[in-house]
Amino acid sequence: MFKGIIFDLDGVICFTDKYHYQAWKKLADRLGIYFDEKINNRLRGVSRMDCLDIVLEKSTKQYSYDEKEALATEKNETYKNLLQEMGPNDLPEEVKNTLDELRKRGYKLAIGSSSKNTRMILNRLGLGDYFDAISDGNNISKSKPDPEVFLKAAEFIGEKPEDCLVVEDAEAGIEAAFRGGFASAGLGEARNHKEVTYKLGEFKDLLDIN
Ligand code: G6P
Ligand code: MG
Repeated sequence: MFKGIIFDLDGVICFTDKYHYQAWKKLADRLGIYFDEKINNRLRGVSRMDCLDIVLEKSTKQYSYDEKEALATEKNETYKNLLQEMGPNDLPEEVKNTLDELRKRGYKLAIGSSSKNTRMILNRLGLGDYFDAISDGNNISKSKPDPEVFLKAAEFIGEKPEDCLVVEDAEAGIEAAFRGGFASAGLGEARNHKEVTYKLGEFKDLLDIN
């Protein structure tokens, strides 16, 4: 039924959530701004600058554009240092086996992630050359829930949105898939979105979708 499958990265292929949390928390603590897991949950699938705006909602101070750029860079430096701990062992076996089986079945496999660190993360996981195409935070101007990142991914693999399935863990990602005309498969909180096409219990359930 589908010709291509487009995977979100963070929370689908690997679990960088805890590093994002730690890096934002460190920045928020330094600025004296309240930050918790609940606020962190709103950051899934959202671009770095949009995340910063969410983190700064609790601040009484107004920041200029240049100050915000510097804060986003500071967070990213912390995040990249934390990512140094990541290696091929952080790619769950279930994910790798499922990807291999989907590839065997003839699907084109692509990444559709808001992260500008996508290539570095894929390299660390040992998946640097694995996907047929990568659409990420570096080739888009609007982040999820805008469909741009998935539309670009479909274009890169030469398939139409209606022939691709998007796999997501964020509600913003399911919304993006829906707006772009894609069917979607949701893991975790993404299962709650009213427009999700398939609800997955675990990653390997993708093998039951035809
Ligand atoms: C993913 C994550 C978000 C993150 C975004 C940008 O979508 O789910 O939490 O903010 O990527 O990541 P970056 O690595 O570019 O800061
Ligand atoms: Mg995600």
